[in-house]
Amino acid sequence: MRRFLFRIVPLLITVLIMAACVVPPPVPAAAPSSSGSSESAAAPSTNTLNVLCTPQVQWCEGMKAEFERANPEITVNFVRMSSGEALTRLRNERENPQFDIWWGGPVDSFIAAKEEGLLEAYDSPNADAILDKNLMLDADNYWAGIYVGSLGFATNENWLAEHPGVEPPRSWDDLLKPEFQGQIMVAHPSSSGTSYTAICTVLQMRGEEAGWDYITRYAGQVLQFTRSGAAPAKFVGQGEAAVAIVFSHDIVAEQEKGSPLLLTFPEEGTGYEIGGMGIIAGAKNLENAKKWFDWALLPETQELGPTYQAYQAPTVSGAEASLPELLEVNLINYDFQWCGEQKKDFVDKFTNEIANAEALKE
Ligand code: F6P
Repeated sequence: MRRFLFRIVPLLITVLIMAACVVPPPVPAAAPSSSGSSESAAAPSTNTLNVLCTPQVQWCEGMKAEFERANPEITVNFVRMSSGEALTRLRNERENPQFDIWWGGPVDSFIAAKEEGLLEAYDSPNADAILDKNLMLDADNYWAGIYVGSLGFATNENWLAEHPGVEPPRSWDDLLKPEFQGQIMVAHPSSSGTSYTAICTVLQMRGEEAGWDYITRYAGQVLQFTRSGAAPAKFVGQGEAAVAIVFSHDIVAEQEKGSPLLLTFPEEGTGYEIGGMGIIAGAKNLENAKKWFDWALLPETQELGPTYQAYQAPTVSGAEASLPELLEVNLINYDFQWCGEQKKDFVDKFTNEIANAEALKE
């Protein structure tokens, strides 16, 4: 027996050591998470859809839940990212795309993405319902418009009450008044499509020379730039500064939460966005991406927005706008093609010559 133990014990020890050294199975590559806030590894599956989502996170979450309800066999993972960050991410993942579809954010960035070969054309049968195809549908079907929203100014009403005699801004020039020095919040155009819409609006209204001169002075009024376009409405609502430059629907959403914000528009004209959607070139779940694309162009899908505090106007016939008055303002004839083509140069100029993109708030 002892001789048997002498033989078997070393053998057992060797087996145990070898077992401890066995290499674990490979971990699946990192994929977008479904939480929207962080990224984690998702089990590989043919029935997933990875969405790069640019609107407010509440709407992204709502759309995930609604799409999964309509398509129970598909699991949606999404990451919320501002427009400029999304574009950078798509550039970096060009060789191995992690997303299947990009949903939301001003089409300027989709025009830039198309130029760079980052999108896949898709001719959706539901694109027929788009209200203004010249404006809201790419001629080569690389992107489609899914909502519309105008730029506005949000002023904190408590701040106004504490500064008698100060009027809320009603023109772009009003933003340059001394009382708003260090009292303005807006996102940085390198990360945010909202902020890019604002600077491209000014450049179209004033021409490039006078426009850049204005933008330099406007940036000098800013307390702090943010990463996300809608964040300034929240911070101004909390009293961190007096005025935010944001899309008007985001101001309404903050008002609904009880923020003391007054909404005004620049009377000489304001810019607006067409929110876009496009399939990513090389999407791994192409059929599911097409399903989302078709679904997002249904009137009943576009009418879901207000359920998730999203008040952008729809782009398809048969869908009612929840707040049509947000577009019944003096909108400029915004040239999306020009702004999309110039996006990289204008953002680089802003970053290099006016304000770098370090230390952005939220
Ligand atoms: O919060 C929603 C929204 O304003 C959309 O209407 C818009 O397309 C998007 O955010 C832009 O986000 P960002 O400015 O962060 O790129």
